[in-house]
Amino acid sequence: MPVGTVIILGGRGMLGTDLGKACRSAGIDPMIYDLPEFDIGRRDHLEQAILPGSTVVNCAAYTNVEKAESEPDLAEKINAQAVGYLAETARTRDAYVIHISTDFVFDGDLDRPYAETDAPNPVSVYGSSKWHGEQALSHSDARCCIVRVQWTYGHGGTNFVKKILELAQSRDHLKVIDDQIGSPTATTEVARVLVEMLSMQEKPTGLFHLAASGYTSRYEMARFVLDVKGIPISVQPCKSSDFPTVARRPLNSRFDCSKLEQLLGRSLADWKEPLARFVEEL
Ligand SMILES: NC(=O)c1ccc[n+]([C@@H]2O[C@H](COP(=O)([O-])OP(=O)(O)OC[C@H]3O[C@@H](n4cnc5c(N)ncnc54)[C@H](OP(=O)(O)O)[C@@H]3O)[C@@H](O)[C@H]2O)c1
Repeated sequence: MPVGTVIILGGRGMLGTDLGKACRSAGIDPMIYDLPEFDIGRRDHLEQAILPGSTVVNCAAYTNVEKAESEPDLAEKINAQAVGYLAETARTRDAYVIHISTDFVFDGDLDRPYAETDAPNPVSVYGSSKWHGEQALSHSDARCCIVRVQWTYGHGGTNFVKKILELAQSRDHLKVIDDQIGSPTATTEVARVLVEMLSMQEKPTGLFHLAASGYTSRYEMARFVLDVKGIPISVQPCKSSDFPTVARRPLNSRFDCSKLEQLLGRSLADWKEPLARFVEEL
């Protein structure tokens, strides 16, 4: 069935770039908006961008987790206040919104994968700004769904995989934390699911968790990446406390994705094969 106009906000970021490609592969020609010509924090820009009856995927975000701790107002403006403007504009234009959010809305203290019914409790400025954005959208009357993703990597941005390979070029051994666990998830896989969702005859609403199946630690992930690349470097496990950061990060980022799998009528792919392919492409 025809999907209509698809608009990607933050369309030149890591996820937005792969979403644009996935749309084009599915025969959809999306409209791409991003900085510098489009600022989601400006109502007038949103009013110009959001067309009546369109589908808007919001990948635009303030994503620098460390810097957000010293720029809380800017993080809140982009990740929360602007999402409120987006909700209002979408409601008045009867546009449908898919908004991307994050595992950082949780504290990571749970000893099982997080479900959509678990209560958020962000422990960083970034996480709290994203949680406020979710609330602005879900408390509005806009037709929308929120898709939380975690541990994403892709060609169009900086990420853990690229950092490990960069470090491996200048060091003879690495120390990597083994007390943070999650599911490395390719932005190409996220994009594929988003295209399936926005192509559905009945547009999904509500909250969904999206991650590759299976999980691992940052330490095991680094070893996997280096093995695939054939880099024989020694890697030692350590704890998050060995690498103090300004922002606190959740130790457990695992998602229960059964609600989304039921919607899609299929299982989500395991994390290993897409990661191996990505590493080989680098
Ligand atoms: N990367 C992860 O591991 C991860 C994990 C969980 C959730 N997420 C979520 O996934 C979504 C996509 O993020 P990503 O990983 O693709 O990060 P990204 O590469 O940083 O993409 C974000 C995009 O938003 C743009 N942007 C920033 N401020 C803007 C503004 N005021 N107006 C318009 N555009 C603006 C950025 O432009 P500039 O580059 O010019 O700033 C960038 O193109 C976000 O909602 C993020 O919170 C990411």
